[in-house]
Amino acid sequence: MPSEHSLFWGHLPQMAKAQKAFPATASHDYGIAALAKTFTNGVFIIDTWPFSLPLLVISTPTAANALQKHSASLVKPDDVNAPLNTLSAGPSMMTMPEDQWKQWRVLFNPSFSITYLTQLAPTVASEVSIFCEKLRAVAREGKVIQLEPLASRLTIDVPMGHQHQDHPIAATIRSQAKWISFSPIVEPWTVLNPKRPFILWNNNRLFKKYIGAVIDKRFAEVEAATHEKPKAKALLPAALESYIIDARENGVSPACLDPSFKSSLLSNLIIFMVAGHETSSTTICMCLNSLATNPEYLPRIRAEHDAVFGTNISTAHIMSIVQQEPERLNQLPLTLAVIKETLRLYPPVSGIRMGTPEVSLPDDSGKLFPTDGVKIWTNHTSMHLNEKYWPEAERFLPDRWLAKEGDRLYPTKGAWRPFEHGGRNCIGQALALIELKLVLVMTLREFVFEPAYAEDDREIFGRKAWVSGSQGVGGTPNQEYPVRVRFANRT
Ligand code: HEM
Repeated sequence: MPSEHSLFWGHLPQMAKAQKAFPATASHDYGIAALAKTFTNGVFIIDTWPFSLPLLVISTPTAANALQKHSASLVKPDDVNAPLNTLSAGPSMMTMPEDQWKQWRVLFNPSFSITYLTQLAPTVASEVSIFCEKLRAVAREGKVIQLEPLASRLTIDVPMGHQHQDHPIAATIRSQAKWISFSPIVEPWTVLNPKRPFILWNNNRLFKKYIGAVIDKRFAEVEAATHEKPKAKALLPAALESYIIDARENGVSPACLDPSFKSSLLSNLIIFMVAGHETSSTTICMCLNSLATNPEYLPRIRAEHDAVFGTNISTAHIMSIVQQEPERLNQLPLTLAVIKETLRLYPPVSGIRMGTPEVSLPDDSGKLFPTDGVKIWTNHTSMHLNEKYWPEAERFLPDRWLAKEGDRLYPTKGAWRPFEHGGRNCIGQALALIELKLVLVMTLREFVFEPAYAEDDREIFGRKAWVSGSQGVGGTPNQEYPVRVRFANRT
């Protein structure tokens, strides 16, 4: 427990003091990571009375590994579940108790199998080619742009064609993410804004109208085509097919969808879009920035792309190779190392669970912390910036991911958790990695990205691009990553 404790405000003044060392809009994870440095065994309690239950902060793999054994059964705290449910117009996999969560996870798992995702790679590549077209237009204009909104159009939902137009579902998700709030203390003006209830209600209405219509249309198509064995692999048709086959096995021929199944399906589809878009778009920006500010890696990564995809850098050529041999995406060790190192330095989200009387968690000294009545916060930023597990923790060093066992840079097992581990880990991680690899392969040889922060913008660890906690559900790049895009001059 931090030593300074106020009778009335618990550890809040100390948290505020730790956060004060960082820019006002920086993610609170930075303040927690600074506090974590004084707890070398990696587990400590923060008293947030009178606003919330105490937080048990985990910044060591020892406790995180012990927690992951319970991660499917432990639910998120109510003050996290409630805004998530508002966001997704009802309970989703993210918030459901274990028995319901399991049914949906089993239903969706085949749509995230490596075999299916490898087949999907050409579709993702064609979406990335639209992103590249947009970058070309920006490069021709020579203006500074905010890259995050452009990247999030790519990541929000590959099949919606959002990149070409302002799709109502995508716009509604952005708005809903902006208006829900996980912390009335941190965002009082969002919570007290009189427009907020109407906006949240209207966004919910729009979700039901647009996504509900998509579900109904697909249901009719799938119903007409479904036989005894499941065939579909894409998320929505696969879920509908499974529902129809189950119903038929029970002697029912469903003429329309059961309303409660439809409502849960809708919430899960929303959560897929929410969980997948900001996390991935933030990582795209941070990868591009990490390479822009560490240009010594650029010749090496471009050489890797030349070696695997050939020296013809046109998106059409790369797409045709991905179409014929998507497995080539598995032959990019440095590209993967850059992505992993970026996710180490800038994990966009953390994990939070409500403790129970049955679960106690050990710190690095073996001391056990009971979790009943506390919120357990596996703080990825603290763990990823901890020198105990990561030598030169604040530096961007992709080579640590290429180091052999025994090398001082060799990563500590369990200390890299941007997608979390255990039952409720990220179902979309393989898709995210395919998307990120394709973005790097299709952009790095054609474009140069020059960060365009102001001279006097504040830095964290010597860098102007850092994770901001001021918008959306997870972290986003500071100022949405202002950048100038130029065409690369390759000889
Ligand atoms: C760089 C990109 C991504 C990162 C860093 C990330 C991170 C995470 C993390 C840490 C969790 C666990 C949260 C918890 O324990 O409470 C999670 C869960 C989840 N993620 Fe991701 N994610 C990414 C991309 C995606 C994508 C592309 C999708 C979908 C297309 C997705 C869908 C989900 C879903 C549905 C869950 C809940 C899983 C469950 O409860 O069974 N994520 N993600």
